[in-house]
Amino acid sequence: MSYSIEGKNIVIIGGARGIGGISAKRFAAQGANVATFDMRDDEGMALAEEATKAGPGRVIYRHLDVVDFDQIKPCIDWAAEELGGIDALLDVAGGSLPSKAEETSEADWDWHLGANMKATGLVCQAVFPHMKERGGTMTLIAAGGALKDRPILLASYSASKGAVISYSRSVAAEWAPYNIRVNCVNPVMSSPGELKTLAAMGEAEQAKFQQQIHESIPLGRMGDIETELSPVLQFLISDAAKYITSQIIAVDGGLCPLR
Ligand SMILES: NC(=O)c1ccc[n+]([C@@H]2O[C@H](COP(=O)([O-])OP(=O)(O)OC[C@H]3O[C@@H](n4cnc5c(N)ncnc54)[C@H](O)[C@@H]3O)[C@@H](O)[C@H]2O)c1
Repeated sequence: MSYSIEGKNIVIIGGARGIGGISAKRFAAQGANVATFDMRDDEGMALAEEATKAGPGRVIYRHLDVVDFDQIKPCIDWAAEELGGIDALLDVAGGSLPSKAEETSEADWDWHLGANMKATGLVCQAVFPHMKERGGTMTLIAAGGALKDRPILLASYSASKGAVISYSRSVAAEWAPYNIRVNCVNPVMSSPGELKTLAAMGEAEQAKFQQQIHESIPLGRMGDIETELSPVLQFLISDAAKYITSQIIAVDGGLCPLR
């Protein structure tokens, strides 16, 4: 059983920073070749350059706003061409726009369902033909909020992530005959995205969020992407996980136990 990802070709959607960016660096350092996509072109290109320089794997970057749905397939086909095939997908792009459930605007609903759900489905569909013959892994990032009963100011976000979980289980079953494994990861990590979500809340809501989320993590703190999440994502891509599919894996310090 091997934990190695050396020589694997990996696509990361949302790879300019945070979970996707740090994972891209780790994967390249482990000898994988990575294609990252994001809207933050300066950060994405700088990260790709830095990771390639450090080697031994390389990272290539291309612009993609996932809600520009028509661009998804050409981008995935480009990655397959540049890398020489796709072994793994890590779909991280997305995020949250906090609002009270009774006040969520239609535009925010559309963004959550578009960026977090529809785009994820279209990315997986675009990757499928590239894995149909050779097998592969798809790891989708959902959220504990999809399962927890207190997703503060994040009802539409949580609904979109719940849909990601449902989708992942359906395609895990449909694509298992092609030896394609599909899993969801629910993280709780310090990241630029998490700070942005907090900043969009008022002071009182921030305090409530801190109390209900941060302080109720049994391990007593937020996780660290580099040392506590990326290694798990690497494991899921590696052959060591070749009998793991259709799972929700929480890397959250025990916040949302799955029973
Ligand atoms: N950090 C956490 O604790 C946590 C918890 C639960 C779920 N998540 C999920 O993990 C994912 C990544 O979160 P993060 O904390 O690393 O956030 P982040 O904001 O640091 O990183 C997200 C990346 O996705 C990119 N992105 C966002 N929208 C995009 C779009 N339309 N097209 C292309 N790229 C886009 C961003 O530019 C950014 O580089 C998100 O889906 C988030 O909902 C994070």
